[in-house]
Amino acid sequence: MSTPEKHSKPQQQSISQKIYGFMHGVELSAVLTVVGIILLFSASIFVVLLAPRYVDPTWTTPSSPFQVQMYEVSDPNIYVSSTGTGSSTLQYLYHLKENYTLLAFHELDAVRIVAPPDLEKYITKVHEPQLKLTSTLLMLRPPQRTEAFDAIAAADVIRKEFQSDWESKHPKWKEEGLLRPGFDVVELYKVEGKEAFAVASSEGAVENWVERGNFKLLDDKVQQPYHSDVGVIYINNPMEYRVMHIVMNDQEGWQYDPKGESLKNFEELQNHPLQFKSKAELISYGEHIYAIEGCWYCHTDQTRTLVQDVVLNGSDSYPAPPSTANEYIYQKITFPGTRRIGPDISRVGIKRPSRDWHKGHFWSPKTASEGSIMPSFRHFFDYDPRGTSKSEAGVPNYKFEAIFQYLMTKGTRITPPTQAWWLGKDPVGTKEIIEGRRTLPP
Ligand code: HEC
Repeated sequence: MSTPEKHSKPQQQSISQKIYGFMHGVELSAVLTVVGIILLFSASIFVVLLAPRYVDPTWTTPSSPFQVQMYEVSDPNIYVSSTGTGSSTLQYLYHLKENYTLLAFHELDAVRIVAPPDLEKYITKVHEPQLKLTSTLLMLRPPQRTEAFDAIAAADVIRKEFQSDWESKHPKWKEEGLLRPGFDVVELYKVEGKEAFAVASSEGAVENWVERGNFKLLDDKVQQPYHSDVGVIYINNPMEYRVMHIVMNDQEGWQYDPKGESLKNFEELQNHPLQFKSKAELISYGEHIYAIEGCWYCHTDQTRTLVQDVVLNGSDSYPAPPSTANEYIYQKITFPGTRRIGPDISRVGIKRPSRDWHKGHFWSPKTASEGSIMPSFRHFFDYDPRGTSKSEAGVPNYKFEAIFQYLMTKGTRITPPTQAWWLGKDPVGTKEIIEGRRTLPP
C-alpha cells in the first residue's frame, strides 16, 4: 500500500538529486571516457600553443641569409618579361636598390670603364685580384658628355693610350697583317633616385657569387647583414635598362634599346605592358608547375641521412647535407615524394646549375641523358608544331623560367655542406659499394 506522499516524492527531487540520480545510472567507464576526451583535447590545445616556443629554432628559420634573399624580394632581384606583346623571347632585368643590392664594376679584357674622379674607386681594374663591391647605386651606360664629366673624351683617351701601347709592342703590325684589338668603353655614373633597373643576360638569372676574402666592401655602413657574410651575391657590371616602343608589321610591342626611355620606379615596372614578373613570383609559379606536372611522381625532394643520398647528391669528398625542415619553410606545397624513378632533386641547384643543360633536358630528356624515361616538356618552350613559327630549337617561355628558378632553389641556399657531420657515419663502407670499389658481402 502506498501513500500519496510516497508517490509524489520523485517529482519533488531537487536538481542536485536529479543529477546524482543521472550520474548514478551512467557507467563509470563512460564517465572516464568523457573526462579523458576533455583532457586530451585541452592537452592538445596546450601543446599547439606552447610547443612552438620550445621547438628547435633551426626548423622554422631560414638556414642562410641567401635563402631569404632568394624568396623575400630583397637582394639581386631579377625580373623577367617577354620582349614584346605577341612575341616570345624573354628578357631579363635587375631591380637595383640603394643599400640593398651589391654591385661590382669589373673591367674585363674587352670592357673598360671610365668614371668621374669621385667614382673611380669603385672600378676593379683588369688585373686587380680583389673584387670591389658597393651598395651605392651606380650603373654603366654608353659614354655621355655632361657638364660635370666628359665621358666621351675620357673614353677616347683610354682608347688611344691602349692603341699606342699595343702598337709599340707590335711595331710591325701592319706588315704582319695583325688586327688591332679593340674594347668597349662604358661610363660609370651615379643613378638619381634610390632604385633603378639594369639589363641582365639570360644567363644573368644566375647571380655572381664570391667567397669571403676575394672581395672588399667599399661602403662604411652596409645595411644588409648578408652583404658581409660568407659568400656574397652581387651583380656584375649592370647596364641601364631602357625600352623602346616598337611597331613591326602589324605587331606592336616593347624591347630593350639603349636609346629608349628608362623605367622610373617599381610601380612603372609592374604596370608596364611587358608584365614583368619577379624571381620570387617565378619560383612560386615553378612550385605550382612542379605540382601540376606531376614531377613528384618520379622525383623525391629530400636528401635522407643515408650515405647513398648524401654521396649521390654531393660527392664522396664533399657529401651533400641531409635535408632539414627549414629548407621547405618558404614553400606553399612540399613534395618530399616516395618513389625515385628519377634522381632526387633536393640538391639539383648545386648538381646541375646550368640553364642550358635544363633547356636541353626539358626539351628532350633523352639527348641530355641517354635512355631517360622522363617525358619531354615542350610546352615549357614556345613551339607550335602546326603553326608558321615551327621551330626545332624551342624558345624557353615563362614556364621554363619558372621551373628552372624553382629547381635552382634546391640546395643552393642552405648552410654550406661541411664534412663534420659525415665523420664516422659510414661503418659499412657504403660509399665504396656505390662507387664499385667493394661489392656487397654475399
Ligand atoms: C616518368 C617519370 C618522370 C617525370 C614525370 C619527371 N621526371 Fe625528371 N627525371 C626522370 C628520370 C628517369 C630522370 C633521370 C634521367 C634523366 O636525366 O633524364 C630524370 C631527371 C631529371 C632531372 C635531372 C636530375 C639529375 O640530378 O640529374 C631533373 C632536374 C628533372 N628530372 C626534373 C623534372 C621536373 C621538373 C619534372 C616535372 C616537370 C620531371 N622531372 C618529371 C623521370 C621523370
